Amino acid sequence: MRNGGPAARIAVLPGDGIGKEVTPESVKVIRAATMSARRPLEFVELDWGADKYLREGVTLPAGAVEMLRDEFDAILFGALGDPRVPGNQHAADILLGLRFKLDLYVNARPVELFHNRLTPLRDRKEEDVKFMVFRENTEGLYVGVGGFFKKDTADEIAVQEDVNSRKGVERIIRHAFDYARKQGLKRVCMSDKSNAMTFAHDLWQRVFKEVRQEYTDIESRHLYIDTLAMEVVRDPRQFDVIVTCNLFGDIISDLGAQLAGGLGLAPSGNIHPGKTSLFEPVHGSAPNIAGKGIANPLGSVLTSAMMLEFLGWKQEAEKLRAATRAALRENFVTPDLGGDRKTMEVGDWIAARVG
Ligand code: NAD
Ligand code: IPM
Ligand code: MN
Repeated sequence: MRNGGPAARIAVLPGDGIGKEVTPESVKVIRAATMSARRPLEFVELDWGADKYLREGVTLPAGAVEMLRDEFDAILFGALGDPRVPGNQHAADILLGLRFKLDLYVNARPVELFHNRLTPLRDRKEEDVKFMVFRENTEGLYVGVGGFFKKDTADEIAVQEDVNSRKGVERIIRHAFDYARKQGLKRVCMSDKSNAMTFAHDLWQRVFKEVRQEYTDIESRHLYIDTLAMEVVRDPRQFDVIVTCNLFGDIISDLGAQLAGGLGLAPSGNIHPGKTSLFEPVHGSAPNIAGKGIANPLGSVLTSAMMLEFLGWKQEAEKLRAATRAALRENFVTPDLGGDRKTMEVGDWIAARVG
């Protein structure tokens, strides 16, 4: 497929709510940045989300995983979540389904302050808030193992299992160290709650102690998750790379996002190195602002930069980041960042810059 065909095939999955507003802006921006390439990128849009689910009862269509795995290089994802779908079954099936079934074990969520004024921390500058969160993305409390006993009675019991495999823990910890080494970063912090979660996180402790011995050039440290949350706020300069389990990574990455300007700016990649991977902003479908045309598209644009880098378009990725930096500097931004621009205006502005 790749010989003489498009440089890469990208499945575009806008999803629900503001996912449908920010994702087209990203496609526009990527098209502009890669326009002059000899072999352009190919985009194929997929309409999976709440509307389709409510219409047809379909969440993740049959054969979807195989199609994405075999026919696409990357997936650009918006967000899933709709108030009309109680429990958001479609989001679990599609988003968690793809993370698990494509075995996207690395959830990379960089925290980077692009402009001083965007952090709620007093006296912190750009260089003070810059670290990577690696969230384990295929197991932990997210696997959906559990059940109810005596449901809907006064004696009800609900059980949710925390599933941690030796292989799963090792590969994400190893990835964190490899990334640090490759990027010339000096410090890796593993975070768990092994003082209370004495089985699951004891495994994290043992694997961490073993793997760190192979990376003596890197300073490694452990913090319990509650302490990490505190330390990241007290002095974010301490951190280069953080690695943690699925649930804690979800929480600490939102905290990190806020230190760097909020959810409107935070990007992420769900990655299996060398395989079809999925890129999405950290934010959700934001039903409270959906349809108003004011969602910040920059989280999705920075997500697209991560995707381009994954696909080998490093220079173009850098263009997207530089344009985002410029928009923030010139305050050409949406209301969440104190501006008065619309989603599309910001998208057009970025596209014009990178084109
Ligand atoms: P959310 O991220 O959708 O919104 C949280 C707050 O941040 C809201 O006030 C929202 O207006 C604001 N916000 C988020 N992104 C923004 C943007 N780009 N520009 C401006 N403001 C932005 O989180 P939530 O409200 O907890 O969840 C809403 C729905 O999204 C739920 O159904 C949830 O399950 C889902 N969700 C999906 C994903 C995903 O698809 N990856 C991630 C998180 C939440
Ligand atoms: C995220 C979201 C998801 C998660 C939800 C929608 C299941 O919060 O991508 O951070 O918890 O992983
Ligand atoms: Mn989250």
